Amino acid sequence: IPVGLRVHLGETVADVPPRLFGGFVEHMGRCVYQGIYEPEHPSANADGFREDVLALVRELGVTVVRYPGGNFVSGYRWEDGVGPRAERPVRLDGAWHSTETNQVGLHEFAGWASSAGVEVMQAVNLGTRGVLEAGDLLEYSNHPSGTALSSLRARNGSPEPFGITLWCLGNEMDGPWQIGHKTADEYGRLAAETARYMRFLDHRVELVVAGSSNMEMPTFGEWERTVLRHTAELVDHISVHAYYEESDGDVASFLASGAGLDRYLDTVAGIVDEVIAELGLDRTIGISVDEWNVWYQRDWNENHKDAVLSGDWPVAPRLIEDEYNVTDAVVVGSLLISLLRHSDRVSMANLAQLVNVIAPIRCEPEGAAWKQTTFFPFALTSARARGRVVPLDLSGPVLPTAKYGEVPMVDAVSTVADDGSVSLFVVNRSTTDVVALGTELSTAGLVLEDAQVLTVPEGGDRFTTNTQASQPVAPVVLEDVVVESAGDVTQVSLSLPPISW
Ligand code: AHR
Repeated sequence: IPVGLRVHLGETVADVPPRLFGGFVEHMGRCVYQGIYEPEHPSANADGFREDVLALVRELGVTVVRYPGGNFVSGYRWEDGVGPRAERPVRLDGAWHSTETNQVGLHEFAGWASSAGVEVMQAVNLGTRGVLEAGDLLEYSNHPSGTALSSLRARNGSPEPFGITLWCLGNEMDGPWQIGHKTADEYGRLAAETARYMRFLDHRVELVVAGSSNMEMPTFGEWERTVLRHTAELVDHISVHAYYEESDGDVASFLASGAGLDRYLDTVAGIVDEVIAELGLDRTIGISVDEWNVWYQRDWNENHKDAVLSGDWPVAPRLIEDEYNVTDAVVVGSLLISLLRHSDRVSMANLAQLVNVIAPIRCEPEGAAWKQTTFFPFALTSARARGRVVPLDLSGPVLPTAKYGEVPMVDAVSTVADDGSVSLFVVNRSTTDVVALGTELSTAGLVLEDAQVLTVPEGGDRFTTNTQASQPVAPVVLEDVVVESAGDVTQVSLSLPPISW
């Protein structure tokens, strides 16, 4: 099937936001304990963090990591996670029906983040706590010295402040599953007062107010409007959470998840503009897609959730350790295309989560760490999407989908780095057709550096996964890419197999 693409290298949509390649570490399941942290593991460093996992985190190219939740944060007392480890309380985690040992807390995570080379995006508890506790956490983290909280931090081993600038004002407060769930007005007021106090304490903070948990929430839209009316002058970003899955064998809709994310982002951007105009403000509010991924949530809801939430209180149970296949990886690649295309509105995004829990990295206690299929599109996009996102025109067939109507068979986005190197990210959503892609780039003389494709591996099918025992899914060299200059443009021709990124 022929598809045409024209890339306008001289024009700009927006700079690629470095925080677009964020991750998420929640005290949930085996993300922290038996994930990033396992002091008994042979690769553990002096702080108990697994170096093999850290190496994969660095290779993934994550830039910022949200912590410590997620639903967990709404029942969390940050003070439990500081001070001598032997004296830290063991608590019930009501969000995930687990026992929290508090052996990892603020100091340990800041140390891990620095080893991983990532920025910390710290969430405060606005489910069961409030303005003062959020301010205390900020003062403890960022105030240089001379107050009770900054002195306590120094006594706990960090004379230097952590200097955390990026803060989430609670998590998914629109969801009845959230501990301390609130109405939009209740949350909007609390978020505004917390934001005000945090800004009084440290004018450098960048604040993310919680938007809806997903687009299907009955309060979606009105939630954003109400919350922003309370907070638009005080916050810098509003969150979007977006999870996708293949259900009822509807692979066409699943492969079109990027079109769903496009609509979600466009809708939230419209609401932001509407409230900014209504309030007569002269500022922008970015969209923080601070949880996104493929997640087989239906399986969790129908087959596991009730048992987990009414069972024992284990430490670090195996929760939602989804094993990702080729199709999932192609969808993750296409969601990244959608995020990049919205670089003018999306200020950051966090793949949820980082290790073991719906994660690109898996590991076993005392065992190996390995890359899930979804690791690759993320790592390649993070490494190659540099500089500016540039506009492009696509012409080609559309595919019918039950969830999103007709969507283009091929989707793409392109970036240009400061040194002039061009990256092109393309997805073929067809399950049957090979796409012959003819691309015209508006500069002559470009040469091919590298072309890779992620698709069904030889001997496998679209359900093939990577496991501890074998990892057959990885990008391979895309053969037969023809690049030639014609006048003042460069033409690129290549073939994309069905279900490929
Ligand atoms: O990432 C798993 C969970 O999904 C998070 O705790 C919550 O915020 C979301 O519902």
